[in-house]
Amino acid sequence: MEKIIDEKIQGQTLELETKKENTRKLFIESYGCAMNFSDSEIVASILANEGFNTTQNLEDADLVLVNTCSIRDKAEQTIRKRLQKYNAVKKINPKMKVGVLGCMAERLKEKFLEEERIVDLVVGPDAYKDLPNLIKEVEDGRDAVNVILSIDETYGDISPVRLGGNGVTAFVSITRGCDNMCTFCVVPFTRGRERSRDPQSILKEVNDLAEKGYKEITLLGQNVDSYLWFGGGLKRSFKKASDIQKATAMDFAQLLDLVAAEQPKMRFRFSTSNPQDMSLDVLHTMAKYQNICDYIHLPVQSGSTRILKEMNRQHTREEYMELIDSVREILPDCSISQDIITGFPTETEEDHQDTLSLMEYVKYDYGYMFAYSERPGTLAEKKLEDDIPEEVKKRRLAEIVALQREHCAIRTEEFLGKTFEVLIEKESKKSNQHWAGRTSQNTMAVFPKENYKVGDFVMVKIDDCTSATLIGECVGYSKNN
Ligand code: 5AD
Ligand code: SF4
Repeated sequence: MEKIIDEKIQGQTLELETKKENTRKLFIESYGCAMNFSDSEIVASILANEGFNTTQNLEDADLVLVNTCSIRDKAEQTIRKRLQKYNAVKKINPKMKVGVLGCMAERLKEKFLEEERIVDLVVGPDAYKDLPNLIKEVEDGRDAVNVILSIDETYGDISPVRLGGNGVTAFVSITRGCDNMCTFCVVPFTRGRERSRDPQSILKEVNDLAEKGYKEITLLGQNVDSYLWFGGGLKRSFKKASDIQKATAMDFAQLLDLVAAEQPKMRFRFSTSNPQDMSLDVLHTMAKYQNICDYIHLPVQSGSTRILKEMNRQHTREEYMELIDSVREILPDCSISQDIITGFPTETEEDHQDTLSLMEYVKYDYGYMFAYSERPGTLAEKKLEDDIPEEVKKRRLAEIVALQREHCAIRTEEFLGKTFEVLIEKESKKSNQHWAGRTSQNTMAVFPKENYKVGDFVMVKIDDCTSATLIGECVGYSKNN
């Protein structure tokens, strides 16, 4: 069942559109969240101007970059294993240079060079524009490190190279960093404070993608609902903004309105939302536009108000439920997914039962569930003992995963007998006679290819399903096509 996972650590290598004049070879691999994949496209774009084309073949590479994730210990262990593999290749190709990007680079900084002798280059998420200089340093035989976090870097002026994609769906980042300081989370330390990108540069990227034939855009940020443009700088300095800046500021609902109206044939999604920052305006804007998908990823982390407080989530169980009620009222067809952490410090059986009962209340369409992993430097690590035994964390995780499975099946069955618009993205993994694409609700549907092609919006009548995939047949083009 592809959408129910308790660990989402995947590596993916990316292939760049080749520039003929480029002679150097870059192997770039990304782990973790969508933001990392999107950042790798920015890095590839910066390095394309430095003479690098990408290769899928590690052995050929002049430069190997790994874009890393620190969210849980397991993610970091996976990356350390990958570095061992690079080490083995470096023995055959000693000229190969190895760089670490992303959250682990930011978290470990210079320590990386001591801990992993293989690493030549350590670059944090806000320092990618310095890569050309850093690579020169490395080529001159010096180790190079830049992990300076920025107050205004959004890479808004870089046109990302679309890597390894299907030419139909793309990510556009709109905010960087996070100010929420959830006590379990390393992100505010690795990606810095929250800042929003200029709406004009977002609009330009959206229009460029439309021109290139893309059909669906996911607006990305650690916390998209707190998007706020008032001329640049950190979100928290908004209080000091001038009256004009305040009067002309743009929030997330307004940004959604802007892009959806500008490109009415483009589908829009967004991720990730945080309950405390999601406004009813966003829900009303979603309702106003047919081209904003009926899907919200709304992590809850726990169903217990006491644990939510320990996590510094800034909302109660009841407030979350009220938000769910509003979603159901304003967007009756909207699907909702969750992130949940089990075994947060001090979590009792009663707290765990609260999480299960909240899940029963919402009946999420799907979810991503994790056992708590203590992260060095976070507020939870400093103030709370990681006191839930591993086997208890695992048992509770198994229980929420099992319940989510039941809910997935219930939600998927609700599609049966109905007809939905699907954007064709790719060939089905299981059959080369079938297309695969997602409904507005983000559920994967497969159906016979007939004469349709990738990028078409089609109407699919659903007549069967597995717990996570809809099976149907095309009944024609959607009017959106
Ligand atoms: N341990 C386990 N899961 C975590 N997440 C974030 N930090 C931790 C941690 N320390 C999960 C949260 C978040 C998702 C991206 O990862 O559920 O929403
Ligand atoms: Fe981490 Fe919380 Fe920010 Fe999400 S909202 S990135 S969990 S601090």
